[in-house]
Amino acid sequence: MKPSVTYLDHAATSPLLPVARTAMLEVLDGTFGNASSLHSPGHAAQNIVEDARSAVAKLINASPEEIIFTSGGSESNNTVTETFRGQKIAVSSIEHPSVLESSRARASEVIELPVDQFGRVDMGEISHASQLGVNLFSIMLANNEIGTIQPVSEFSRALQASDKPVYLHSDATQALGKIKIDVQALGVDYLTISAHKIGGPIGIGALYVRQGVPFKPLIIGGHQEHLRRAGTTNTAAIAGFGAAAQWCWDNWSCKKWVEVATLRDQLKSRILQTIPYSSCNSPDHGCLPNILNMSFRAAEGESIQLYLDADDVIVSTGSACASGDLEPSHVLMALHHDAEIAHSSIRFSFGLETTPADIDRVMSVLPKIIARLQGMSTIKLGESHEKPR
Ligand SMILES: Cc1ncc(COP(=O)(O)O)c(C=O)c1O
Repeated sequence: MKPSVTYLDHAATSPLLPVARTAMLEVLDGTFGNASSLHSPGHAAQNIVEDARSAVAKLINASPEEIIFTSGGSESNNTVTETFRGQKIAVSSIEHPSVLESSRARASEVIELPVDQFGRVDMGEISHASQLGVNLFSIMLANNEIGTIQPVSEFSRALQASDKPVYLHSDATQALGKIKIDVQALGVDYLTISAHKIGGPIGIGALYVRQGVPFKPLIIGGHQEHLRRAGTTNTAAIAGFGAAAQWCWDNWSCKKWVEVATLRDQLKSRILQTIPYSSCNSPDHGCLPNILNMSFRAAEGESIQLYLDADDVIVSTGSACASGDLEPSHVLMALHHDAEIAHSSIRFSFGLETTPADIDRVMSVLPKIIARLQGMSTIKLGESHEKPR
């Protein structure tokens, strides 16, 4: 990427950390063996995998045996819904498509729990659904489009009071590395994570499976991962994931993310103050420090993204997975039930390397882009500015 580029799409994927790259190159250049083989190169590869497993487990306060390596967040989510095939699954209506669509494809019934204007599931909805014989609840720890953090530990406490066995899965793909994650404190049975959101490589992730809970592999036909995920072990990618997890552990500092949140809030205020008809879709409280979702009435999200790209500012419209899709974001629709707000949204997502200069850069180009698009729009805008929430 050109050094002049302002990259504000970390929620789509983060740059590979140098430590992850080094760990991967050591495997690619040196440790050739198949981690399942019984010879010494195989043992060397297996040791690398087990070290990485320990680093990943430590980051979420799990035991290494409870970590299954997968190809990423999507596969981890699909593995959980496969485990509950033919059963009743309750999901928040703003889950990632790999939870929503895989639940719809596999469950006997899917109950979609509504969210409030900030993207939060109400505790009453959880209690109500638990009385309907739900077998699995899947509620993400933090949303990928707007950043809302769900009170998952409160949900797990409420479910523990249920008289029937009910399990809780949380997709923590976006939350990992941004907020502290402790599977014991959260009280979850399954937790999804992915390497490329924390500076590890794309194509590797993990599923935490609490000891003793139901489990059915998604990919069968091999004894890898203790018969829980078949396929020759991707040692280099796992080494990269382990190195990134260890880096997060060693460098964890809330202070750094508070600084990122400050930059995010500055961008939000400057946009709301400067750009007519702008509004914020991310909650003021209980939000990941690095995600800001804004709407700009009468300016189409994809056009804003393309104009910003031409000015070397990289952002996303809603989730990267939904880009290119003409349907409005299901997350924003669940919040506002307003297709115009959903179609005019942009997600800015920050990393630890984001600086005040990046915010200045956005503000040097964005107001002009929005003014141009609003000027070309057929939507009639009134005199008054959108009120900030
Ligand atoms: C919340 C969430 N879940 C799952 C995924 C899918 O993860 P992966 O890209 O590792 O398959 C993403 C990716 O953006 C995500 O944001």
